[in-house]
Amino acid sequence: MKILAEHLNRSFWLSPASRLSIMKLRLSVIGTGYLGATHAVCMSSLGYNVVGIDHDPEKVAMLNDGHLPMYEPGLEELLKEQLATGKLSFSTDFADLATADVHFVCVGTPQMKDSLAADLTYIESSIAALSPHLKSGSLVVGKSTVPVGTAQHLRETLASTAPQADLAWNPEFLREGFAIEDTLRPNRLVIGVTSDRAESILREVYAPIIALGTPWIRADLPTAELVKVAANSFLATKISFINAMAEVCEAANADVTILANAIGYDPRIGHKFLQAGIGFGGGCLPKDLRAFMARAGELGASQALEFLREIDAINLRARQRVIDVVRKFVGDDLTGKTIAILGAAFKPESDDVRDSPALDIAAQLHTAGALIKIHDPKALVNAKKRFPLLSFASNINDCFKDADCVLHLTEWREYRQLDLEQIRGLVKNPLIIDGRNALDREAWRTAGWTFHALGRSD
Ligand code: UDX
Repeated sequence: MKILAEHLNRSFWLSPASRLSIMKLRLSVIGTGYLGATHAVCMSSLGYNVVGIDHDPEKVAMLNDGHLPMYEPGLEELLKEQLATGKLSFSTDFADLATADVHFVCVGTPQMKDSLAADLTYIESSIAALSPHLKSGSLVVGKSTVPVGTAQHLRETLASTAPQADLAWNPEFLREGFAIEDTLRPNRLVIGVTSDRAESILREVYAPIIALGTPWIRADLPTAELVKVAANSFLATKISFINAMAEVCEAANADVTILANAIGYDPRIGHKFLQAGIGFGGGCLPKDLRAFMARAGELGASQALEFLREIDAINLRARQRVIDVVRKFVGDDLTGKTIAILGAAFKPESDDVRDSPALDIAAQLHTAGALIKIHDPKALVNAKKRFPLLSFASNINDCFKDADCVLHLTEWREYRQLDLEQIRGLVKNPLIIDGRNALDREAWRTAGWTFHALGRSD
C-alpha cells in the first residue's frame, strides 16, 4: 500500500536531530481500542518505542500476536510490521510503562446508561493506575473525547498524586476507515497545554508530522477539549441539515442529491458531509452531541446548544422515514415480509456497529414482524453479537433470496458493483430502497427494479 510505504520510510527523511529525539523518547498508550491501537501502531511507525496498555488480557494477547480487535484498512499489516521491529509491545501491567516519557490516554468515554453525559470512569481509573509509575518530567497527554473541564480536574488530581508529571490535552479527529492517514497526516494538530515545556515535548513527538506542514494549534486545556466536540457537532449539523432538506424535498417533489450538489459548489458550504440518507451513527457523533448538551447544561449554557437536540431528532427521524418508505411500497402490515438489508456497519470500511442506523432500522423492521436478512462484508460478527435475534447472510445471494424488498443502508463499494440482472432473478419483488443515496438509480431501473431513495422524487 502506497500510504503505508510512504510513512514507513518516514524515519529516513527525518533530520538527524529528530532521529536522535525519536530514539530517546519512549511513549506509552493507555487504552487500545480504536483510537489507542491506531495511535500506538502509528507512533511506532514513526520510530518510537511504544508500549500499549489495556486492562483486557484477550485484547493485549491479540495485539501482541499481530491481530487487531477491529477492522481498519491497512492497520493490521502495519501492526505486524511494527511488532517485528521489537519497538512495539502491549501489556496489561501499568508497571511496563514506567520507563516511558510521554503517556497518551486513549480510553473510551461512552454515554452513561442513565443520562446523556459521558462516563469518565475509565479515564479516571487510568490516571489513578498511571500515577504511581510516572517518572519525573513525564507528560500525560489526554486524547479521549471528554466534557470540557475534565482536563483541568485531572491536572489537579495529578498535582496531588504525581506532582512530578504534567498534563496536556491533544484531541484526536480520526475517522474510522481512514485511521492511519488521519493519524499520520492529520489536517491539524491541536494541543491544550499549561506550560511551554509541555508544548515542546509534544512538538518533539510530532516533529515528523509537523514537518509535513501540518497546522499546529496551541490552546489552553478547555479550548482543546471543546475543539473536538465543536468539530463533531458541526459535522453532525451538516448531515442533519441535508437530511432536513431531504424531508422538504420529499414534500415538494424535489431531489436532494441535485440540491446538495448545487449548494456544495459554494466554497463556504462545500460538498463533503452533504450525503442525505439514514443519518449518522457510530461511537462518536451521537454520544459526543449528547455529552456536549449535558455539559453545557451543567455550565449554565444549555440554551446555546438547544439546536443540537433538533440535530439529534432529525437524525433519528431519518431512520424512521426509511421504515415509512418500506411500508408505503411493501404494505402497512410487514408480518412475514422478507426484507434484505445491505449493510450493518455504521459506515463503510468499518466493522463498527455502535449506534448503527442500519441495524437500528433492521431491529425495528424485525419487531414489526418482517423477516430480516442482513449482509455486510465486515461487520456481521459484531452485528450478531449485538442483535442475536436478527438473521444474517454471509453470502450475498442468500441475502437477496425471495426478498419482498431490498434496503441499501451502508454504502459499501461492492453494493455499487452488483450484477443487477442476476440479483433480480433471486428476489421475489425487484424493489430497492437506497437509504444512502449512493446507488445509480438509472442503472437499477434499466435492470428492471423499482427504485426509491430518501429525499428524491420518484
Ligand atoms: C467522526 C468524525 O468524522 C471524526 O473526526 C471523529 O474523530 C470521530 O467521529 P467517524 O465516527 O469515523 O468519525 O465517522 P464519520 O466519517 O464522521 O461518519 C459519521 C456518520 O455520519 C456515519 O454513520 C456516516 O454514514 C454518516 N454520514 C457521513 C452521513 O450520513 N452523511 C454524510 O454526508 C457523511
